[in-house]
Amino acid sequence: MESSKLLCYTSLVMRTHTPPIPFLDLTAQNAPLREEIDAAMKEVIDRNAFVLGPALVSFETAFAAYCEAHHAVGVSSGTTALQLMMQAAGIGPGDEVITVPNTFIATVEAIAATGATPVLADVDPKTWLMDPAAVEAKISSRTKAILPVHLYGIPCDLDALRSLADTHGVLLLEDAAQAHGARWDGSRIGNGSTACAFSFYPGKNLGAMGDGGAVVTNDPDLAARVEALRHHGQLEKNTHSLVGTTGRLDSLQAAVLEVKLAHLDEWNDGRRRVAQRYRERLAGSRYRMPEPLPQAEPVYHLFVVHHPEVEKVRDALREARIGHGSHYPLAVHEQPAFAHLGKKGEFPVAEDICHHIVSLPMYAELDLDSVDFVCDVLLKLES
Ligand SMILES: Cc1ncc(COP(=O)(O)O)c(C=O)c1O
Repeated sequence: MESSKLLCYTSLVMRTHTPPIPFLDLTAQNAPLREEIDAAMKEVIDRNAFVLGPALVSFETAFAAYCEAHHAVGVSSGTTALQLMMQAAGIGPGDEVITVPNTFIATVEAIAATGATPVLADVDPKTWLMDPAAVEAKISSRTKAILPVHLYGIPCDLDALRSLADTHGVLLLEDAAQAHGARWDGSRIGNGSTACAFSFYPGKNLGAMGDGGAVVTNDPDLAARVEALRHHGQLEKNTHSLVGTTGRLDSLQAAVLEVKLAHLDEWNDGRRRVAQRYRERLAGSRYRMPEPLPQAEPVYHLFVVHHPEVEKVRDALREARIGHGSHYPLAVHEQPAFAHLGKKGEFPVAEDICHHIVSLPMYAELDLDSVDFVCDVLLKLES
């Protein structure tokens, strides 16, 4: 056996104790914080302040400060954050909102829920993110906003998108459901556009113990409209000025999130460490990864690789008992509910990405030995 193969074989044999390696390990995150979380929840329960209580205000203040923004409004999910953010920005029937085909379905669901029409623009083959040139080609007289997605926690080119939005007199709004704590050109994601939507789904970089989300903005009027929309359209008590909904972030979730927020930077450092190891180990192989732009400081919600024979990769991971996922296996217009948004082949970059990707284990506490084991399994297919 040639020496490089022998080395690879040896490392596989030596590390057979390592699997199963989960895709995500929430126990590793929650266990050390258990007492603090229990105490924070107890305080909410003792106060009977479950809706719009002090725990919510306290978390909103802390999260706005973390995002270097003036306002954060806690809502019931990331999807609600997207929808209410757009409604508060005046988006509705007759308007068009431009976004990307390789995103979670919630991005376009939220646009459709406002009554506006989602318009898709293909992504950049290097970053896998919104391509400003492709967006420009889709701008029409009905375009009201551009909605980039900081997919996998990698910031989009906010400079180019801001200047595009300014040139064409449309809004720039952001889907940061996967990008808590990321930075573009030194600034936190959340303060660089009209408004930004976050998700606190449990597996996110900052995750609740249930559903949650937030709209972050520097615009006090927009923040006030989101506050009203999440609370049955009340700008003041018992006056329903807007058609709103029940869309508030629970106080119990806010209390949990405030405990976790104090650890977010350290967790994001851990994720970057894992990503760096994957990148080093997989460099020069057939595995392709999105390349962040130099101004981007990613937070790697997910670590996703592209491979021409992705089914073989999946089989190998399954056999080695390595947790993995697919984010996302079909582009938005390939989903039955949104088939009207494009024809097969219309967005070749996004379609190619969606059809050839696999998401590898990624969480702050993942040890580098386990990352090496995953890479050994992946690279075995290359030898
Ligand atoms: C890119 C993106 N947008 C929106 C959402 C919706 O967030 P939620 O699940 O909290 O509604 C998610 C969550 O998975 C997401 O990843």
